[in-house]
Amino acid sequence: MNVYEAIHTMLAVRSYADKPIPADAVRRIVEAGWLTGSSMNMQPWHFIVVEERATLRQLGALARSGPYIAEAPLAIAVVIERTTYAVSDASRAIQSMMLAAWAEGIGSNWVGFHGLDAAKPVLGVPETLDLFAIIPFGYPAQPIGKGKKRRKPLETVAHRERFDQPFTG
Ligand SMILES: Cc1cc2nc3c(=O)[nH]c(=O)nc-3n(C[C@H](O)[C@H](O)[C@H](O)COP(=O)(O)O)c2cc1C
Repeated sequence: MNVYEAIHTMLAVRSYADKPIPADAVRRIVEAGWLTGSSMNMQPWHFIVVEERATLRQLGALARSGPYIAEAPLAIAVVIERTTYAVSDASRAIQSMMLAAWAEGIGSNWVGFHGLDAAKPVLGVPETLDLFAIIPFGYPAQPIGKGKKRRKPLETVAHRERFDQPFTG
């Protein structure tokens, strides 16, 4: 799957098949985050790879907007430094990981942004860092309609040359 196709078809997946993700695929997903470019190459992130069922259940219980983490075979918690560009950098790394996973048939979704502090002790995250997001990964439980997205019309968010001129392709 090329990058354009991956972007076109990727959807948020919140329900996962009871099927483990092979170790080499886990490695590729983590590498996709690790290799992402960041502001001034500061790499203000840590990726905690979680596959223990008990920990996944704890994370699902603590992340109010992502109870389905409990059912995933894998979650990657993204921890960031408290620096100016860390949110942008980590967001970019998350998208890299999600697309890398999707390209090999593994779905995922972004859970959290704020409100994950209660989960920090579960993962041993130091007080000085923030638990920014938790990304559960897994093979989709149901076949998913490829690329059926609900988005604002392109011409209402894309512009040509000036804000008052819609981009119509
Ligand atoms: C910054 C950010 C935070 C998100 N937080 C959550 C969340 O806490 N729980 C959740 O189920 N989905 C979360 N999502 C996923 C969005 O709901 C999803 O990307 C959006 O609905 C589009 O889904 P689609 O690509 O399947 O159309 C988040 C997405 C982003 C980018």
